[in-house]
This record gives sequence, structure tokens and C-alpha cells, in this order.
Amino acid sequence: MTTLKRTPTLLVTGFGGFVAGSIIAQGMNDYKIHTVDRIDVPKEQGDVNYHQLDLTDSTGLARLFVQIDPDAVIHTAAIADIDFCQKNQQIAKKVNVGVTQQLAELCGKSGAKLVFCSTDTVFDGKKGFYVEDDPPHPINFYAETKVRGEQIISETVRNAAIARLSLVMGLSVMGTGNSFLARTIEKLQAGDNVKFPENEIRTPVDVITLGRALLELADNAFHGTIHLAGNDRLTRYDMARRIAERLGYSPDLIIATNSNAMPGRAPRPDDASLNNSKAKSILKTPMQNLIEGLDLTLNYKSGKSLHTSEGIANFKNRNHSRK
Ligand SMILES: NC(=O)c1ccc[n+]([C@@H]2O[C@H](COP(=O)([O-])OP(=O)(O)OC[C@H]3O[C@@H](n4cnc5c(N)ncnc54)[C@H](OP(=O)(O)O)[C@@H]3O)[C@@H](O)[C@H]2O)c1
Repeated sequence: MTTLKRTPTLLVTGFGGFVAGSIIAQGMNDYKIHTVDRIDVPKEQGDVNYHQLDLTDSTGLARLFVQIDPDAVIHTAAIADIDFCQKNQQIAKKVNVGVTQQLAELCGKSGAKLVFCSTDTVFDGKKGFYVEDDPPHPINFYAETKVRGEQIISETVRNAAIARLSLVMGLSVMGTGNSFLARTIEKLQAGDNVKFPENEIRTPVDVITLGRALLELADNAFHGTIHLAGNDRLTRYDMARRIAERLGYSPDLIIATNSNAMPGRAPRPDDASLNNSKAKSILKTPMQNLIEGLDLTLNYKSGKSLHTSEGIANFKNRNHSRK
């Protein structure tokens, strides 16, 4: 007699976000996906089960969790705007710490695997190229909430992966989300200058690779902290120049700034680059360099081959037809 394998259930928080879209799109074939955000659910739902809920509604979240009974949870939902968090600390704490705490407790009780999206900015940026064992030292409130989230998860649930994401680069796979690449390309197409900080050194990870890595973490036996980052370590200014060049625009449209010299902004770590050696040794998902990651994200929507020039041509055509 053959036994039918049950399709595992995955709960993804924050479907309106940049990272969640990549997870959902790439996980649809392997999981029964439930996903939750406070925004309206889309009209076209396909095979995905969408739920509208403000995650700070603890009764609603507990009810939804029991109803779904997930095998794994990927928790992307957060207030991820660093300056908003600095000015609205109560709200940031309620979402980034409070919701994480409740999900950790729910996963701890049910045995579901929890994958938490933390950040490279848990570090102060003085050393750079951080490994997982380096001690966090947050310099803004957003990062403080993420460090607290990490601590709660470590204390509450053993079956958990804390994924520290480097700067995420790419185009939104579904929904909206906060894509600096999309905003940059729009400006480059208009021939406008785009400012990028020269003081911030990062190891950008493309959103497609990131989605795959997070799905892998939801499914594998790894627990603990892991850095999900690309292979290239560079300033955000250099990153933008290389992207512009790759897309056929003049790199001189990219203007260097210093993010820590702008008044009214929360402090940013200078060198928050992450060492991805652990991810490379543990995950099957290959980590990419900047241009490989850019090609992956540009080609993803076309659904065609991952041939680079074709992907870039498709991307440009899509944008022209939108005008
Ligand atoms: N993008 C990066 O470069 C980066 C780098 C390091 C770490 N991370 C972390 O990775 C995760 C995903 O990032 P992302 O760029 O995808 O963020 P994002 O685009 O801002 O998505 C987060 C989603 O969570 C939703 N959300 C916030 N509060 C909620 C609540 N109370 N109830 C329900 N939904 C709520 C947001 O809705 P609203 O839009 O209505 O707030 C948004 O749709 C975040 O945890 C972020 O901190 C991101």
C-alpha cells in the first residue's frame, strides 16, 4: 500500500511585503500556503489562502494560528522603516517585539518551525563582515526591536531559525513592498540622479535567492542564527553604480551621500556587511554575487529562461509598456 504524503502547511506573515512575495511565489508548489497582513486580501487569490488581520490583535492571531495549524511559520511582517521606528517606538515595539513574542509562544507550543527575519543592522557597523557569533550592538530603535525579537525566540522556541538578512535587492515578485531597485530604475529611466550612501557597506542579497533560502530554512533541521547575504561586500554607492551600468544607464547618475550626515534620520551602521560562510555550508540554495542576484530578480517575472540579456530586455519592455 502506498501512503500519500501530506502537503505541509506554511504560514507567511506580511504578504504585502517585499520578501513575503518572493516566499509565497516560490513556495506555492511545495506548501499549502496561508498568509496574513493587515491590508486587504487580493481579488485574485490563486492557490494561496490570504487572511486580513492586524497581527497585534493577539486574540485574532491565536485563533488564526489554531485554525491553520502550520508546520512552519516564516515571520516577515514588521515595521521595517528605520526612521518611522525611531519616531514611533511604541508602535514599533508592539509589532516587532510583541507579535514576534506571540508567534514564538504559539510555535513553541505547537512544535511548528519558526523562521524569523532579523537584520544586518543588529550590529553597530564598526567591525563589518560579521559572523553569527559576533555580539549584536544596535544603534537605532528598529535594530533594538529585532535584537529583542531574536532574544525572545532563543529563549522560547528551540525549533527556530533566526535569519539575519542583509540589504534586500530586487523587484517585487507579488504585491508591493519596499524595493529600492524599482525606485532607482524609475529614476534612471527618467535620466534623474539617484543618491546612495557611500558610508554604508553591505552584502546585498537578491530577493529571489532570499525567498528560496527562507523556504529551505522552514523545511530543514537547522536551528539557530544564520546570515543570509550575498557574496559581494561593497558600499551602497558602488552597488548602485554597478547596477546602473549593468542595466545600460550611466553610473554617473548615481550620486554619493552620507546617510549619517542627513538631519532627522536615525543612525545607520556604517559597515553592517555579513559573512555568509555558514549559509553557504548549510543551505543548498547558492548565495549569489551582486550581478548574479540582479539577473535572477530581473528574469524571475518573465517566467522564461534565466538568460541575462533576455531578462534585461524583458524588464525594459515591461516598463516601456507601462508608460
Ligand atoms: N528589505 C530589507 O532590505 C530588509 C533587510 C533586513 C531585514 N529585513 C526584514 O525582513 C522582513 C521583511 O522585509 P520587507 O522588506 O519585506 O518588509 P516590508 O516590505 O515592509 O513588509 C512587511 C509587511 O508586514 C506588514 N505589517 C506590518 N505591521 C503589521 C501588522 N501589525 N499586522 C499585519 N501586517 C503587518 C506590512 O504592512 P504595512 O506596509 O501596512 O506596514 C508589510 O506588508 C522584515 O522583518 C524586515 O525587518 C528587511
